[in-house]
Amino acid sequence: MHFGGSVKYETVDDPIIKDNRDAIIKVTATAICGSDLHIYRGSLPQTRPMIMGHEFMGIVEETGAGVTNLKHGDRVVVPFPIACGGCFFCEHDLPGHCENSNPVHYGPEGGLLTQKGGALFGYTDLYGGYDGGQAQYVRVPYADYGPRIVPENLTNEQVLFLTDIFPTGYSGIDWGEVNGGETVLIFGAGPVGIMAAKSAWLRGAERVINVDTIPYRLDKAKETANAETVLWEGDGKNVIDYIRSITDNRGADVCVEAVGFEPERTVWDRIKATVNFEKGSPKVLEACMSAVRRGGIVSVLGVYATPFDNFPIGQFFDKGITIKGGQAPAQKHIDKLMQYVSEGKVKLDDIITHRLPLSQVEHAYKIFRNKEEGCVKVVMDPWS
Ligand SMILES: NC(=O)c1ccc[n+]([C@@H]2O[C@H](COP(=O)([O-])OP(=O)(O)OC[C@H]3O[C@@H](n4cnc5c(N)ncnc54)[C@H](O)[C@@H]3O)[C@@H](O)[C@H]2O)c1
Ligand SMILES: [Zn+2]
Ligand SMILES: [Zn+2]
Repeated sequence: MHFGGSVKYETVDDPIIKDNRDAIIKVTATAICGSDLHIYRGSLPQTRPMIMGHEFMGIVEETGAGVTNLKHGDRVVVPFPIACGGCFFCEHDLPGHCENSNPVHYGPEGGLLTQKGGALFGYTDLYGGYDGGQAQYVRVPYADYGPRIVPENLTNEQVLFLTDIFPTGYSGIDWGEVNGGETVLIFGAGPVGIMAAKSAWLRGAERVINVDTIPYRLDKAKETANAETVLWEGDGKNVIDYIRSITDNRGADVCVEAVGFEPERTVWDRIKATVNFEKGSPKVLEACMSAVRRGGIVSVLGVYATPFDNFPIGQFFDKGITIKGGQAPAQKHIDKLMQYVSEGKVKLDDIITHRLPLSQVEHAYKIFRNKEEGCVKVVMDPWS
């Protein structure tokens, strides 16, 4: 539960079916995402309390009359974008841009506080105002399109990250057109950056390197994704020097931005942001543009919520960089990725560092945001 930049554990009414295509899911596992932190820090606005959480799975409790693919008792994972499955964008495999799920705040412009994309679970009124899954029960709209039934032999923890971070990491690599032999440089060794590293191997990359400002996060990337690692120091110039030194001075074929607009900031970054009336900093995206080779691809998974002036458009043009990004099309990749998990080609649950009851959600947000107790990923049980 969120109110004005804080998270609280409270009792609320159970959700009910409101539409024929709804299902009510009894949540058995739910996680906190780096995206939740942007709301928690107050950087994405939300004035009324709402139930947060877009990484959740559970058991189908009840279905609307129009949902024939699910029945009471099915165990499902639910992709984080709320999407109708039938509009122009859904038909083009772009569920994050669904034209129907966010009727009040949707539009073609993608403005600061107007005309946003399709809805997301538990992700502010601007993104549809739907309650999320950091709860015992959640209403899932368009339940005939999003949820996927999980094979019985897989545990909750093995599949939970199919809801968001694994398809997201994979999207970064897919946008990067990694097809074999590439050097992939990933900024961020949080849950998303690590999932991008795992995905890069699946797609045949030759070298996979994670960058972070925090050593224990790099250790986790090494341990769970067999990635090479580089510590970001000072202004990050050491990272650019390193990648050029191992690529005949060219740069990485693909850079993945898995940090977002709220990176570790120096005092100078903060002064610059204040002078420019800017929130956060685009410094990691800028580092990607320096680190990528000419003609290379930058995939932006980290959230950017606000405009920035002085964006290096000249560098983009001179180097002929392709930039792709946005909310990941989880529905597009989830079936193939579930198959990979089930075949044992990839392991997802090795990034979990904390298992807590949902009643400790305030503590869970705090350690994840502050990077305390070696926290990388928290999974919560709403029933313990
Ligand atoms: N595109 C999508 O669909 C999608 C989905 C999920 C998450 N996200 C976004 O991805 C980003 C990462 O999410 P996460 O869950 O891994 O969060 P996280 O906050 O745990 O990870 C971010 C990591 O970046 C590191 N970092 C900070 N400054 C850095 C710098 N200058 N250089 C390198 N690393 C730096 C942090 O130490 C941290 O380990 C967030 O912005 C989140 O909102 C996007
Ligand atoms: Zn997320
Ligand atoms: Zn749609």
